Parts: sequence; C-alpha cells; structure tokens
Amino acid sequence: MLTVGVETSCDETAIALVRDGREVVASVVASQVARHAPFGGVVPEIAAREHVIALVPVLERALQEAGCERGDIGLVAVTERPGLLAALLSGIAAAQALGLALDVPVIGVNHVEAHLVAPFLVDERDPEWPLLSLVVSGGHTHLFLSRGVEDHVLLGATMDDAAGEAFDKVAKLLGLGYPGGPVVQRAAESGDPTAVAFKRPYLSRDSLDFSFSGLKTAVLYHCFGQTPEGGPGGDTLKPGLRVEDVAASFQACVVDVLDTKVRRAVEQTGVTRVAIGGGVACNGPLRERLRQTATEQGWELLLAPPAWCTDNAAMVAARGAQIWRARGGVSRPLEALARASWPRAAPGGTVAKG
Ligand code: KG4
Ligand code: ZN
Repeated sequence: MLTVGVETSCDETAIALVRDGREVVASVVASQVARHAPFGGVVPEIAAREHVIALVPVLERALQEAGCERGDIGLVAVTERPGLLAALLSGIAAAQALGLALDVPVIGVNHVEAHLVAPFLVDERDPEWPLLSLVVSGGHTHLFLSRGVEDHVLLGATMDDAAGEAFDKVAKLLGLGYPGGPVVQRAAESGDPTAVAFKRPYLSRDSLDFSFSGLKTAVLYHCFGQTPEGGPGGDTLKPGLRVEDVAASFQACVVDVLDTKVRRAVEQTGVTRVAIGGGVACNGPLRERLRQTATEQGWELLLAPPAWCTDNAAMVAARGAQIWRARGGVSRPLEALARASWPRAAPGGTVAKG
C-alpha cells in the first residue's frame, strides 16, 4: 500500500509517497528559505501563503516521480501538530481534499513523532523497542524513551530555546544568514572550537533537560560586549573578533551538551539503541561525535541521513502508515487539530496523544 505524506508545519511544503510505511518512492520538498531569509526567521503568514501556492505543483511532481496509479494509494498522512497554525491548516485542508478525491482515509501525524521514524527510512527496517530517541530541530530538543509505536515517554526537553533555534539566533548575531545551522557549521570549519570556553549548560547532575538561551546570551555578550548595567554593549562586533572561532566554539558547546545528555539517558535507562533525527542532526561534527561515542560505548546508533533529518514528508507518510498498522487499519474521524504549540509533558508522561 502507498501512503501519501503531506508536511506543511513550518517553511517546507513537502509531499512524499512511501510504500508499506518504509520504502520512499517519491519525496518532493519545496523550500521557502529564500522567502524568509530577509527576515532572519520564518514569517507565519508568508509560510501559509507559500504552502497554498506550492501544494498542488509539489503533489503533481511527487506523483510523477513515483509513476504510480491513483488506485495504489491507500492512505493520506498529514502533519496535524505542532507547528505554525496557518501553515498546518493549509496542509490539513489539502490532505482532506486528497482523501476525498481518492476515497481513502486521512490520518493526522505528530511532527515530532514523525522525526522519530526518519532513522528507519535508511535501510527500510522497522524500529525495535525499546529505543532512546533524540529529536533536535528548529522547534524541538526532545529526548524520549520509545517503548512502542504509540508509547514515547518524554525524558527531557528544552526549557527555553531548541538547539536549532540557538543555531539560527547565533547565526543572526554573527551576521552569517539564515538558516543558521548550515552557515554556522560552514564558518566553524575554519574556526578554533577551543577559542571561547562557553559554559556548557548541563543543568543539574542528572538532568536530561536542555537550556540553550543562556548560551545564546553568552555569545551575544562575547561578540558585542556588555554595558555597565548588564545589557548588550552595542550593535557592532568587537574589533578583532574572529566570527569563525565564535561559531566553532558555540557549535562545540552544543555538540558536548547533546552528546552528554544522550550518554546520561543511556546510563539512566540502560537502553543502548539510540536514534537521532531532526534538522540539527545534519550537523557534521555532531554526527561524528555521536558515532565516536556509539563505537566507544557499544551503542547501536541509528542516525537519520541528512535528507530525512530536515523537514520532509517521507517521515510523515512513514509515521502515518506505522500508526495505521498499529491500530489495525481502523478508520476513525480525522483528528487534524492544528495546534501552534505542543505542551511540554511532564517527564515520565507519555506524549503520543500530544
Ligand atoms: O527539522 P527541521 O528541518 O525543522 C523543524 O522541525 O524545526 O530543523 C530545522 C533546524 C534549523 O534550526 C536549522 O538551523 C537546523 O535545523 N539545521 C542545522 C543544520 N542544518 C539544519 N543545525 C546545525 N547544523 C546543521 N548542519
Ligand atoms: Zn521538523
């Protein structure tokens, strides 16, 4: 059975076709990065309008790429939350129309849980439980103990900025452009990661939560100085400052924190099968560090390939098909309740019902 995935939660209009929940037969992503770049971040109204413009051409391209018949499609999966409200609604409306036109069920998918299945698209395998999963993206830094398809226990999450958000904000401060992750990584390649000793926000000894806003402020003060009252010193970079060194030192700090928190989670749970997804998981030094740690510690590491780390619809289709199978193919009314935010569940609470 083919599942069509529809993803419009942020600034990517994406449609994919996935066979049996695992084999990606087509995946088209129309990025809006150029439209948002002048603003240094995503503008929700522009995002929603661009989705409406892009959805039909993206769907046509995906169908063409897959070369499939309409009759092969048995399910439509759409990101229903969390994300930008107007952006989500455009995708949900399109998915409903598609379901109606094809006379197939439409299933709502949680975007963060979709990131969790991305590592399994690599070798078309089913996840094995239990599993530790880290989603590091522009909107989320969530660490889960996954015990089954609909049983993800939140072990820790960011208390302020997500890791990707920190990359984006630091890139803006350093005048490197948008989105921040790739440009910070590029600048860092010619920088010294030990140049600035940014304090690692590990929080308390056992904490699996994250906090990146203090790090962003530390970068701000390092680059622009501080007034005697404690505010930012000005809007020009300190003379002699090497942006590459700051980028490399900031990136090293984030890598240390993510690596340490995953190690802690493994220690605390005893689970050594570790899956990583989300846009920040594209980061070269982070991937390298996690591979090193996994080898050293004997973990089974499942790293989503970069194409499935950033937002895409293949992971949405795969997640939809996974839930569909787990529920025994039972149809129920679409629960497409677009929500702008996803409340931070108490540690130990299952978040699958979002
Ligand atoms: O998963 P994603 O595409 O969208 C969300 O669900 O948020 O993640 C986007 C985030 C952005 O903050 C972007 O700066 C970050 O992923 N990112 C990276 C890299 N590539 C993308 N962060 C660090 N290094 C990268 N190479
Ligand atoms: Zn995402």
